[in-house]
Amino acid sequence: MKLWPVIPLLAVVSHIAMAAGDVETGKQIAMQGNNQGATACVACHGANGQGNASAGFPRLAGLNAAYLGKQLRDYRNGSRDNPTMNPIAAALDDVASRDVAAYYAGLDPVGDSTKRKESASGRTLALRGDWDNTIPACVSCHGPGGRGVAPAFPALAGQHASYIKAQLQAWRAGKRRNDANELMKVVAERMSDEQIQAVADYFAAAPVQPDTGAEQ
Ligand code: HEC
Ligand code: HEC
Repeated sequence: MKLWPVIPLLAVVSHIAMAAGDVETGKQIAMQGNNQGATACVACHGANGQGNASAGFPRLAGLNAAYLGKQLRDYRNGSRDNPTMNPIAAALDDVASRDVAAYYAGLDPVGDSTKRKESASGRTLALRGDWDNTIPACVSCHGPGGRGVAPAFPALAGQHASYIKAQLQAWRAGKRRNDANELMKVVAERMSDEQIQAVADYFAAAPVQPDTGAEQ
C-alpha cells in the first residue's frame, strides 16, 4: 500500500484540534436546536446520528470531533457550500460547534443498513487504487477499511452511499473545496461515474469501526 506524506497536512490541520466539548450541551443542541436559529440536528441526521440514506443526510455518529468541528466552521465561513447547512452552522459559535461535535463523536457509529451487493471494483479502488489513472488507494489516507484517521481523514466505512457519491461529485465539479491542499479534489477529478458509484457502494457496506489516530 502506498503511503502518502501526511505530515505536512497534519501540520496544516493541527490548529483545528479543539478542547473537548461539553457533551450535555451538545446533546441539547442536537435534540432541540438553539435559540440563535440552529434547527434540531436530529430532524435530518436522525435520533442516533445515523443520517438518512435516501435523503442523502450523512451519518454523524462516531465521526471524529475535530473533523466535525472543522466542517461546521467551514459551513459557517462559506468554504464548504451547502444551502441547508450554511445557515444552521452560522447559528453555532465556536463553543456550540465544539459541543455538538463532541456529542456526535461520542455516539456509537451506526452503519448504513441498506443491503447492497459487494462491489468488487469498488473494493479494488478502495484498497489498491487505480494507478493507470493515478488514483491512490482510499485507505492510504482514510485508514484500514475506511475507518478514519483522526483528526484529518473522516471515516467512510458505513457512511451512506448517496452521501459519499454526492461529495465525490461535488469535488469533481469544483463545488466542495474545503480539503486541505486539494487532497480530495485531485482524487475525485480522476474518477469516472462508475468508479464513484462502485466505491460509494463498497464503503457504505464496509463494517464500521472506531477510527485510528491519537486524538479524538
Ligand atoms: C434540514 C436538514 C438538516 C439539519 C436540520 C441539519 N443538517 Fe447537517 N447536513 C444536512 C445535509 C443535507 C448535509 C450534507 C451537506 C453537503 O453536501 O455538504 C449535512 C452535513 C452535515 C455535516 C458534515 C458531515 C460530514 O461528514 O462532513 C455536519 C458536521 C452536520 N451536517 C452537522 C449538523 C448539526 C450539528 C446540525 C444541528 C445543529 C445539523 N447538521 C442539522 C442536513 C441537515
Ligand atoms: C491523499 C489523501 C486522501 C486520499 C488518497 C483520499 N482521500 Fe478522501 N478525504 C481526504 C481528506 C483530507 C478529507 C477531508 C476533507 C475536509 O477536511 O473536508 C477527505 C474526505 C473525503 C470524503 C468526505 C467524507 C465526509 O464525511 O464528508 C469522502 C466521501 C472521501 N474523502 C472519499 C474518498 C475516496 C472514495 C477515496 C479513494 C478513491 C479517497 N477519499 C481518497 C483525503 C484523502
